[in-house]
Amino acid sequence: MNVTMIGAGDIAYSHGRAVVKLGGRVIGAYDVYKPGLERYCAEFGCAALTYEQLDEYIARSDYVVVCTPPTKRLDYVEKVLSAHVPLYMEKPVAVTLEDAARLKEMEQKYSGKIIVGFAHRYRPAFQKLYELVSSGALGDPVNVFDHRVGPGFGFRGSPFSASWRTDPKLACGFTVESISHEWNLLTALCGEFETMAANIWCTIDSLPQYDTNFTATMKIKKGGIASITASWSSDLGSNLKGYIGTKGTAFLSGKDMFEFDQLTYKTEDMDHPVTITYNDSYKFNQDGVIFPIHQHFQDCLQNGTPICTPLDEGIKVLKLSLKALESSREHKEIIL
Ligand SMILES: NC(=O)c1ccc[n+]([C@@H]2O[C@H](COP(=O)([O-])OP(=O)(O)OC[C@H]3O[C@@H](n4cnc5c(N)ncnc54)[C@H](O)[C@@H]3O)[C@@H](O)[C@H]2O)c1
Repeated sequence: MNVTMIGAGDIAYSHGRAVVKLGGRVIGAYDVYKPGLERYCAEFGCAALTYEQLDEYIARSDYVVVCTPPTKRLDYVEKVLSAHVPLYMEKPVAVTLEDAARLKEMEQKYSGKIIVGFAHRYRPAFQKLYELVSSGALGDPVNVFDHRVGPGFGFRGSPFSASWRTDPKLACGFTVESISHEWNLLTALCGEFETMAANIWCTIDSLPQYDTNFTATMKIKKGGIASITASWSSDLGSNLKGYIGTKGTAFLSGKDMFEFDQLTYKTEDMDHPVTITYNDSYKFNQDGVIFPIHQHFQDCLQNGTPICTPLDEGIKVLKLSLKALESSREHKEIIL
């Protein structure tokens, strides 16, 4: 498929390589930072677009990937959707409910096809965990958790590179940017929540909106409890997603924040636990992590099948992050 890339920073390389691996081509890219754009276009042998050329390239694309900072998207989204071209949009979809509502309006107005980049949802190890849960093999949720820690952006005062993440005008913090993945994964496993109580901590005094630590506990609507512990301030990396159910238990674990090394599970009718090794590493193979979601999106576009993480999922997740910020700020449990 022919794809146009809007935003040519770090993650755009993994998107471009996924498109190429699937037999397609990045036909053009656009970025406000010219040296970065040129570097990107050199790898993909694609046109370095001016803003004025965007409409022409969008119209020639099978889909467009928008991976600019989350506050810099509405204009591009309108260009893509109004041309009736499918959109791959990075998470978080926005940082305010007002922008999220604008996205929803555009999706409806142009009957847009949108996938939101919750890439971890599509990784083989998580797909297997999801299959165990959705088949009923583990029973109903009792205690479901997502613990993910490691040295993240700004760790121990490490200098910030010039990035939207730490630009005071653009920074949205860990809760809105990154915990979006946790909401997406947890609700895939146990459904929606009834209540939430969150505590959020910032370790960087000069940038208070750039929160780096997150905890939350939730009651699950259909019964059971859930929790998230996440940190960008840990010397040690670890990742553990757990589903303790009425009939069995499964742990998806990794030795760093985004690593899916192995899945171990045991149900009430098994004598011994079974472990499947994946060694699926974001740290050493970011491209491999981003590939399966493009594969899914292209399948959906070719066969007209439903998108697993559409815009509504992105908006739901943003609402949860904003509620968590409110819970922490106001010292209260939120009834969802
Ligand atoms: N799904 C995932 O696993 C995953 C992983 C990393 C990043 N992301 C998301 O992807 C997005 C980009 O993150 P990144 O790590 O690539 O950041 P980045 O800073 O490396 O890249 C962002 C790019 O956008 C460009 N840009 C800034 N303002 C622009 C504008 N107005 N118009 C066009 N280009 C503009 C910057 O020059 C930069 O090249 C974020 O929303 C982030 O949360 C998702």
